[in-house]
Amino acid sequence: MEFKKKILCIGAGYVGGPTMAVIALKCPEYRVDVVDISKERIDAWNSSSLPIYEPGLQEIVEDRRGKNLFFTTEVEKNIKNADIIFVSVNTPTKTFGEGAGMASDLQYWESTAHQIVKFAESDKIIVEKSTLPVRTAEAMERILKTHNGNIKFEVVSNPEFLAEGTAIKDLLEPDRVLIGAHKTQEGRKASKEIADIYKHWIPKRKIITTNLWSSELSKLIANAFLAQRISSINSISALCEKTDADISEIAHAIGSDSRIGEKFLQTSVGFGGSCFKKDILNLVYIAKSYGLYEVADYWESVVKMNEYQKSRFVRKIIKEMFNTVAGKKITLFGFSFKADTGDTRESPAIDITKALLNENAKVTIHDPKALKNAKLDLKDFDKDIIYDTDPYKAAEDANAIVITTEWSQFKELDYSIIFDSMKKPAFIFDGRNILDHNKLFDMGFNVYPTGKKQLTHFS
Ligand code: UDX
Ligand code: UDX
Repeated sequence: MEFKKKILCIGAGYVGGPTMAVIALKCPEYRVDVVDISKERIDAWNSSSLPIYEPGLQEIVEDRRGKNLFFTTEVEKNIKNADIIFVSVNTPTKTFGEGAGMASDLQYWESTAHQIVKFAESDKIIVEKSTLPVRTAEAMERILKTHNGNIKFEVVSNPEFLAEGTAIKDLLEPDRVLIGAHKTQEGRKASKEIADIYKHWIPKRKIITTNLWSSELSKLIANAFLAQRISSINSISALCEKTDADISEIAHAIGSDSRIGEKFLQTSVGFGGSCFKKDILNLVYIAKSYGLYEVADYWESVVKMNEYQKSRFVRKIIKEMFNTVAGKKITLFGFSFKADTGDTRESPAIDITKALLNENAKVTIHDPKALKNAKLDLKDFDKDIIYDTDPYKAAEDANAIVITTEWSQFKELDYSIIFDSMKKPAFIFDGRNILDHNKLFDMGFNVYPTGKKQLTHFS
């Protein structure tokens, strides 16, 4: 079959994979190739066990794979053939040199740009899908201009707003699609070509077009605003624990104001995930590089508050368990950074586990999807940790249960069985406020919610 257009995505990760699967589903007349330097990842995309877990993803991949969706490591041939190239390689925080710990590490981006220059033989639209510092397109264009043929590359920014666990839903029914391009004739034409892809299933009114720099910066700012809400509510959870005000009541009361809105006001052990911390630190770095130190400090405090929330949670566990957890069995329910994903990048559970091990606690971890990643994250501590796929076994003889992820499965467990099998006094620290605290208290647990009154049997 002759395809109307050839789309290539470089980077078959959490963003590239699901995004291309949905484009292939909605645009059957386009051929979509996804390439990655990791053969292992590509093999997994071509198998029945995909490299990432997302509800609905498997069905779409199985439907389109081999028809108009292809996963391969063949970069050269695909760059040659593609009309549109989405770049979705990772952009981690730099770990070395200038800007270490804050700036984005753009080495994968740069090497991708060089590859495009090397293999391209016709005009192409290059789409920035990864989250990037503002004005990255400029650097990209400089590299692309080194091509010695007569080829034109038009760089467009089209950031992804999907959240893990709901990636397919977010792709199928996004609040908006953002496309940033130069305000030139070529830029407008490229912007329209990208919009044409999304128009297959997204109403025109939801497609926002801006200049390139607004689009690049909007992605960082969207994540910074979302994270800021969580840090704001988490800061107030600490105040609630001192005053007997209740964080859920406050979240409801303030969230009912339509100017504030109800979403992203769920207090937690802190936010995690691959984006929030990285993007805010990147924003801080950019602000500093323009000499905007007050702006940088303002946003950096969102990350500082998140670190505080994690360490405050651990301090609370130690204090309430009679100022020592040494030799005590503490069972973590949840290790992923949020429910419905096996991803553990920047998960608060990592820091919490390390801090508990540092206090000589005996840590057991249970998670429905994330144990494989947990073992990788904690490989240096492996001999001190037990991993258990059975929550009841994980809780046996434990002194405390610590809820670190809001998996709905944890609400369905029979806590009376768990209580009977635990050491007494039995503690439960609900870092996500998902359990029925009064019911647990009546069973005999000493219950420590977040941002709410604790319920204990101690006088
Ligand atoms: C994405 C975006 O790219 C990132 O900027 C954003 O902030 C978060 O989401 P994600 O898809 O989560 O990243 O990253 P990851 O799952 O690590 O996928 C990136 C893929 O690119 C990996 O499979 C990696 O092997 C591949 N890659 C990396 C290449 O194919 N070529 C490279 O040169 C570098
Ligand atoms: C985020 C953005 O939502 C998405 O638009 C962007 O493209 C990538 O970054 P993601 O990291 O997948 O997505 O998850 P998200 O649902 O935003 O949650 C991030 C963290 O915040 C999780 O650890 C979550 O548990 C926490 N969170 C979220 C809270 O603690 N409270 C809330 O009310 C909401």
